[in-house]
Amino acid sequence: MAFNEEQFKEILAEFTIGGERLHEIAANFRQDLRLGLRDVTLSSMRMLKSYVGLPSGNEKGDYLALDFGGTNIRVFRIRLEGGGKYEIIKRVGRPLIVPGEYNYISKDATAEQMFDFIAELVDEVIDGDHQTKYYLGHTFSFPSTQDNIYNARLIIWTKEFATQGVEGEIANDLLVAALKRRGAGNVEPVAVLNDTVAVLLSAAYKTPDTFIGSIYATGHNTCYLEPSIHDPNGFGEGGMILNLECGNFSKLAPNRFDKEYDEGSEKPGEQRFEKMVSGRYMGELFGMAIAELLGEKGKQYNLTSVDMSMIMLDDSEKLTKASDIIMAKVGRELDFDDVAKVKKLAETIVIRSARLVAASFVALVWQRAGKGKIVKQHVAVDGSVYEKMPHAKENITKALSELLGEDAANVDTILDNGGSGLGAAIAAAMAKSN
Ligand code: BGC
Repeated sequence: MAFNEEQFKEILAEFTIGGERLHEIAANFRQDLRLGLRDVTLSSMRMLKSYVGLPSGNEKGDYLALDFGGTNIRVFRIRLEGGGKYEIIKRVGRPLIVPGEYNYISKDATAEQMFDFIAELVDEVIDGDHQTKYYLGHTFSFPSTQDNIYNARLIIWTKEFATQGVEGEIANDLLVAALKRRGAGNVEPVAVLNDTVAVLLSAAYKTPDTFIGSIYATGHNTCYLEPSIHDPNGFGEGGMILNLECGNFSKLAPNRFDKEYDEGSEKPGEQRFEKMVSGRYMGELFGMAIAELLGEKGKQYNLTSVDMSMIMLDDSEKLTKASDIIMAKVGRELDFDDVAKVKKLAETIVIRSARLVAASFVALVWQRAGKGKIVKQHVAVDGSVYEKMPHAKENITKALSELLGEDAANVDTILDNGGSGLGAAIAAAMAKSN
């Protein structure tokens, strides 16, 4: 069965965002930001204070860093050498789930079990040394509120985590208790931060003129340095970093696939922006559109963003690899023209995602510039979609120049790979600086 040409064109159009619409979305994002700065309840974003500004780049000393943001826990011992230099002395990592063995993220697991597991990893990174004093920075990448650099309290689990007894609690308190149970009370957590904030700190430590940090991966979120906020409980320079939790931004134009996916999702109405752009969801939208083209609307194929990436990377004459993936996941042998259309659909969904993410970056660049000039700056990004997904990075760059015109020459995106660990060590150093 060949796809219906008209229907195919219509679906592509639904996933296409033209220049004017993109401009509107960037303007809406900025408006939402400004409302939130006035009164956070007016914004669709959470706009959480991080209690850190930028590092000076001269932070020095040995710190522990815990990266807790997904199913893989990583702990590092990091030596900050100042001048933007650092060395990773030791690193350990282990998943929170090993199917058939253990699962610390299910609703049957308790906070004690989860944090005892984490404390064990911390103990491994300090080689069981229970004498030396260690300060630890904790990248905890879930929406949390805090009123100082230590006390982030989990509002709600995201990313399918369901462990009991953590929502509503201060993550560092749970960690401190677990470290004590293990006899490692000499490790003192002194800072907690979102992964976007960690990426920004890490990039700014090495590269001056970086004010925006973002994760573009399974999940999506961005933070930026807001110059107008100064708080006696904060550390660092230039104002305060706000973790936008912009995955929840909702003032955009979802198409019928976005709406339908959201309605059937675990948390309808939540994380609307994340559901249009992040790796966790692009495969779902892709599958829904293919089902429609095949006349089996509603059927689920379990297509992922990795499948999309592999389909797009197939540049062979016969698109054999793409065809095999479609066969394996969709259970249909498509003719060449339809495989090419599926590839085009994947591209269109990724390009939309990249353009939307770029629009949010532009809103932040505008916000920081105010009525002044757009200064030379970098936007630090980490995550698999940014790093590996075909068409993502180049379409961010294209959209930046579409939206910023000549000023785009002053703004670029840079990859900050693994900033979650380094950023946590820098935050710990900043917290111990006075
Ligand atoms: C979380 C954010 C996090 C982002 C990227 C989202 O689901 O709400 O806190 O920064 O994922 O990891």
